[in-house]
Amino acid sequence: MASSTFSVNTGSSTSADPSGTYGPAWGLAAARLPRVAARRMRGCTRPGRLARLDRILLLREAELIGRIDGEFRDAPLVDVGVGEWPWTTIETAHSLRAFAPSLRVIGVELDPDRLRHARRFEEPGLEFRRGGFELPLGAAERPRVVRALNLLRGYSETEARAAHAMLSAALLPGGLLIEGTSSPSGGVLCVHLLRKRGARLAREGLLFSTDFSQGFAPVLFRDRLPRDLRRRSEPGSAMHGFFEAWTQAFAAARSTGLCENAALFALSAQLLASRVPGIVGDAALHATGALLWQPPGGVPSPGDLGP
Ligand SMILES: C[S@@+](CC[C@H](N)C(=O)[O-])C[C@H]1O[C@@H](n2cnc3c(N)ncnc32)[C@H](O)[C@@H]1O
Repeated sequence: MASSTFSVNTGSSTSADPSGTYGPAWGLAAARLPRVAARRMRGCTRPGRLARLDRILLLREAELIGRIDGEFRDAPLVDVGVGEWPWTTIETAHSLRAFAPSLRVIGVELDPDRLRHARRFEEPGLEFRRGGFELPLGAAERPRVVRALNLLRGYSETEARAAHAMLSAALLPGGLLIEGTSSPSGGVLCVHLLRKRGARLAREGLLFSTDFSQGFAPVLFRDRLPRDLRRRSEPGSAMHGFFEAWTQAFAAARSTGLCENAALFALSAQLLASRVPGIVGDAALHATGALLWQPPGGVPSPGDLGP
């Protein structure tokens, strides 16, 4: 995997900013952030991969997606790491703009060839810009959501944490950084929901979702944990404690005689909620094969010990 330099201030390659200048929207604050050298990586993606995440976003974050007060009026959703072809960014734009027609979606991609492919699909409300973790936004552009799916797997754990800080630097208060990993089809995914609270980025929730195409057992999600937690589910760790509790809840659900995956998932989620604080009791979410964990003290950080 070849490294390239990080700074890709490519204002001239895009037409959307009236000032024509792109770069860190948060000048001084952004300048103090740790830097991560961007990496060239494979751009594998496919249509439909993130469609369930789009639906969950509408289910849980409709207010954030639809807000038009104050600075939110023009606040975009920024999708970082578009991929070889921009299918998932286009699908997200269509799905969210059907609900919030004035929402702007900006796809960001480091690779010039991939950017060229993507720009053929620009349309009103959807544009693509060249850039990296230091988002190519104008000084007045502050996103409501930044999504980075299947982007950080090629980076180290430390780089992933630094990338969180960079990707979230321009978010509006209350805005969301969605970062995580999915299987190639998108059938299994696990994402961080990181919320901008004042100057802080709160590790608000961890979202697990499956379409049951690989059956279901909690362990399915272990290999899809976001980059900073992926190697952090060893015995004794907080993530290990979480998976142990879910596995026990799953075993208890199976012992009732249930065998249909969706029903087992929903019952295991319900049982888990009685053992682990912060399991969101949203039946509509569970019915779609999704579980949201919002631990009162925040999602464990790498190295946090279990109970
Ligand atoms: C595996 S694709 C993910 C595509 C899509 N998001 C998905 O989930 O299917 C990752 C893309 O991220 C791009 N990429 C890697 N590092 C990046 C960075 N620092 N900033 C922007 N894009 C980056 C790569 O060029 C690649 O096209």
